[in-house]
Amino acid sequence: MPLKPEELRSHRWFGREAMRTFNHRSRLAQMGFAPDDYRGKPVIAILNTWSEINPCHTHFRQRAEEVKRGVWQAGGFPLEMPALSLAEPFQKPSPLMYRNLLAMEAEELLRSYPVDGAVLMGGCDKTTPGLVMGATSMGLPAIYLPAGPMLRGNASGATLGSGSDMFKGWAELRAGTITRDEWEDLLSGIARSPGHCMTMGTASTMTSAAEALGLTLPGAASIPAPDSRHARMATLTGRRIVEMVWEDLRPSRLLTAGAFDNAVTAVLALGGSTNALVHLVAMARRAGVALTLERFDELARATPLLANIRPAGKYLMEDFFYAGGLPALLERLRGSLDLDALTANGRTLGENIAGAKVFDDDVILPVGRPLVAEASLAILRGNLAPDGAVIKPAACEPRLHRHTGPAVVFEDYPDLQARIDDPALAVDADSVLVLKNAGPQGGPGMPEWGQLPIPKKLLAQGVRDMVRISDARMSGTSYGACVLHVAPESFVGGPLALVRTGDRISLDVAARRLELLVDEAELARRCAEWRPPPPRYARGWGALHARHVTQANEGCDFAILSDSAATPEPDIF
Ligand code: FES
Repeated sequence: MPLKPEELRSHRWFGREAMRTFNHRSRLAQMGFAPDDYRGKPVIAILNTWSEINPCHTHFRQRAEEVKRGVWQAGGFPLEMPALSLAEPFQKPSPLMYRNLLAMEAEELLRSYPVDGAVLMGGCDKTTPGLVMGATSMGLPAIYLPAGPMLRGNASGATLGSGSDMFKGWAELRAGTITRDEWEDLLSGIARSPGHCMTMGTASTMTSAAEALGLTLPGAASIPAPDSRHARMATLTGRRIVEMVWEDLRPSRLLTAGAFDNAVTAVLALGGSTNALVHLVAMARRAGVALTLERFDELARATPLLANIRPAGKYLMEDFFYAGGLPALLERLRGSLDLDALTANGRTLGENIAGAKVFDDDVILPVGRPLVAEASLAILRGNLAPDGAVIKPAACEPRLHRHTGPAVVFEDYPDLQARIDDPALAVDADSVLVLKNAGPQGGPGMPEWGQLPIPKKLLAQGVRDMVRISDARMSGTSYGACVLHVAPESFVGGPLALVRTGDRISLDVAARRLELLVDEAELARRCAEWRPPPPRYARGWGALHARHVTQANEGCDFAILSDSAATPEPDIF
């Protein structure tokens, strides 16, 4: 049974006979709206993370208009509401530190205003989880409109991938194998259209995860931002949210344990970013689903990497779209998915992907010919990471999957910057680089420092990968034998805080182990000597963040936000 107009949440603001209702309606009149524009219609908030500082969302002003067109067409009343833009390249110390702020803002915008349903417009890395977390906690019908990837990069005849080719170019520049002019030329063509990073970085990973969760219309996550099909998808999304309100189709009906398994499976088959662990765990907790790192590992062992996309593979998101996009990849994984999971269009995932075709087997590989047969991500445990750590074996040199070497420790990021290229640094290709104080509190916000640079003198010797360990994250566009998200973090006294230069560290990906080979008595002695560093922030958001943020294995959400206790609806007197 569809809702009746008087059952709409917004009816409390606009439909009742009361002095406040007069005020609300007179203020809509002030903005030029007549009663026929909104009376008895679902009010649709369009949470738009457009900002002049966000290069990935430059098309969102236009897309918001296209969403509004769809809302009007379907008999809704659209209201665009700007929401905090998390622009990955510019926001410091880390956009993750502000993800929960966006989540709080999204939730409270939807709660405090007369809203019946929401279109969430994001794409640049943390905007997807931030918006979804907030909308999930609020619980109103909501649909996600991904920004879409930018076009392939191109310069000097080469196809360039966001992030990945910058990291490679920087390493080559430091090794002296490319010139400064060649380096500058990269800059001119590596980001040449609207849209988010077009490698399988965090943005493509999380928008694809949102689609696999059932939060978008089918196929929405793969369409390049400048493609006219993206504009049409925006209008269809606006149309659909109005229907979702009448159907009372809330996130709680979509975000089941099966839907999260689908999202994790999709991420693994895509060779997605390690950041997905942090975000999906946080998103699942908001939905009341207990997604653990162990579940990631279980699914990783059973999921082939099929998307031949950089940094693990060869192609880019534009190629992926032309090859059939996410529906085609999911169709190949049909046997591993919860096909009964309900999605935003009111159909099941199984119905949505049925018959989706792959148009290029070299971009979306057959299950029998995967890029990596299993474990594109692996969860590690051991005395160095009792609460877990992650590595992306598919993006590192296989010889390093099993490695023991002496630690070269950097106490924090400034220390790393100061010494990594020091010719006197005692380091060789077998060393294990360790970075401390880069976690949820120490960074803060786990900045993407986890791909520690290879020391210049080793680059000159031809070394391009070595084992690196930190409590930081790394960009999904990065690569290398980087052990990330070590929990608990060093800033709060996790075992990483106890590592000293010269200690031997053992990594064994197949056994999922990460061990500090120092005897327990010595570790106990170091633990007793350890003193917590002073807090990074004494006031403001930084202080609030430090007080409430959880560790990486818990999603870095605020405990008070992932709490499932009900929040009252606002009184309207
Ligand atoms: Fe926005 Fe990469 S910078 S997605």
